[in-house]
Parts: sequence; C-alpha cells; structure tokens
Amino acid sequence: TYIVTDNCIACKYTDCVEVCPVDCFYEGVNTLVIHPDECIDCGVCEPECPADAIRPDTEPDMEEWVAFNRKYAEIWPVITEKRDALPEAAERDGETGKLAKYFS
Ligand code: SF4
Ligand code: F3S
Repeated sequence: TYIVTDNCIACKYTDCVEVCPVDCFYEGVNTLVIHPDECIDCGVCEPECPADAIRPDTEPDMEEWVAFNRKYAEIWPVITEKRDALPEAAERDGETGKLAKYFS
C-alpha cells in the first residue's frame, strides 16, 4: 500500500486525489491520508505529489505512518477532486517535524 507522510501536512496540494482509481484519499484540515486497506498499490499517485509526501509502506520506519493513515481514513471524509493548496504550501514544503508543528 501507499501512504501519505509528514510533508503533506500544511501543504495539501491535492494533485494526488485526481489520479486515484479507487478514491481512497481522505481529507483532514491540513493533510490527507490514504486508506491502507482500500489502496490497490497502483503507485500512480506517488509521482503526482509536488511535495513528495506519498511513499510505499515498504520503505523503512513506515509503521507509524501506516497507523496514522488508517486511523484518520476511518474518520475523515473522502476527497476526489483537486482543491487549492494551503496558503503556505510553498513555504512549508520540505520542513521537518511537521506532524508535531502543524497537525491539527
Ligand atoms: Fe490510489 Fe493507487 Fe495511490 Fe493507492 S497507490 S492511493 S490506489 S493512486
Ligand atoms: Fe498531500 Fe501531496 Fe496529495 S501534498 S494532498 S499527498 S499531492
């Protein structure tokens, strides 16, 4: 499965949602998540993210992010159409520790 990681937070470009064939992105205030059980592992969203925030769960140390994506995908509404990125997306892109700093 693929998952959304730290660098989506406070950017939320949403290019990713337009290409997903199974509509498994869910939207919170300042980030998206992928439902890990609905993702069919096609990989087409990964190169679409300008912030490089979408990763395969086969990368090291992804357990925390898989749990994060699963938790919020059960709570947040689905998103299937691109919206404007968050106002500070360009400034926040690439910052470290965004989960602690900006997630709400
Ligand atoms: Fe959707 Fe494919 Fe990305 Fe999974 S890998 S979230 S199915 S576009
Ligand atoms: Fe987030 Fe990248 Fe999608 S910043 S909203 S995962 S395009």
